[in-house]
Amino acid sequence: MNWKRKDLLGLEELSRQEIEFILDTAKSFKEVSTRPVKKVPALRGKTIVNLFFEPSTRTKTSFELAAKRLSADVLNFEVSTSSVSKGETIVDTARNIEAMKVDCFIVRHSVSGAPLIISNAVKSAVINAGDGCHEHPTQALLDLFTVREVFGKISGLKIAIIGDIFHSRVARSNIWGFTKLGAKVTVCGPPTLMPRGIEKIGVSVCYSIKEAVSKADIVYLLRLQKERQQENFFPSQAEYRNYFGFDTKKFDLTKKKFVIMHPGPMNRGLEISTDAAEKENSLILQQVTNGIAVRMAVLYLTVRQVH
Ligand code: CP
Repeated sequence: MNWKRKDLLGLEELSRQEIEFILDTAKSFKEVSTRPVKKVPALRGKTIVNLFFEPSTRTKTSFELAAKRLSADVLNFEVSTSSVSKGETIVDTARNIEAMKVDCFIVRHSVSGAPLIISNAVKSAVINAGDGCHEHPTQALLDLFTVREVFGKISGLKIAIIGDIFHSRVARSNIWGFTKLGAKVTVCGPPTLMPRGIEKIGVSVCYSIKEAVSKADIVYLLRLQKERQQENFFPSQAEYRNYFGFDTKKFDLTKKKFVIMHPGPMNRGLEISTDAAEKENSLILQQVTNGIAVRMAVLYLTVRQVH
């Protein structure tokens, strides 16, 4: 297919064919990271800017490594020591950096829509690295890639996404991605953390973790986002753990075969127990490994559209 987009802001706007094209492109890039010299010249001469207004370990590092493995130059913009702290807007910040002839912004922000605002103001490629409660498209793409790698398909699989659905950009991107590729998605969590009307976008809703897990091929546990719980969505973390935490005491993992996924960072002992995270059916580190290939594909496809 002929890729035409310079931005990747979410999976909602992508077609099934576009998502599959990114996954196929990522498959061809995966091998690069196994070479003694982990580099191809695909984006030599291009400059990628990491513009992270929120903390990150995996996404920021993964984009930086992906860009470097494509031979691009990378600038890690330090928000805390920049003129953002003097009140400069995100648009002025991006336009001033763009004036130094860069090609791509990777944007993480606590506000939904911040990457869209920047993409409307610049000619460079803009990739959403997680915006508020909206989307985290490359997380979902690496999750889809990992599931396809393990199961050989996505269509027909049953995935249970468990936890704080309301605040989760990872849940939203995964719902779009998995439903477009033909998986059956169930969301499970406390009623107070379940967006009203979510069934309308093609998912089933369940309030019992035992029921959700019993039917699933993939158990996808979300991080409880303590930084976004300003209201009392549940009585205490102990109650959350009792009702919606996943641990091997609650589930006999030998009875039914399913894989465990988590986007990270994990709250060990809260939404997932350490023994569950370390089980042989846990794909958590495989997800992280695959993030590089997926982000190489996204950078390769989008940055080449910038002239
Ligand atoms: N999964 C994820 O987005 O992790 P980071 O916050 O560490 O980037």
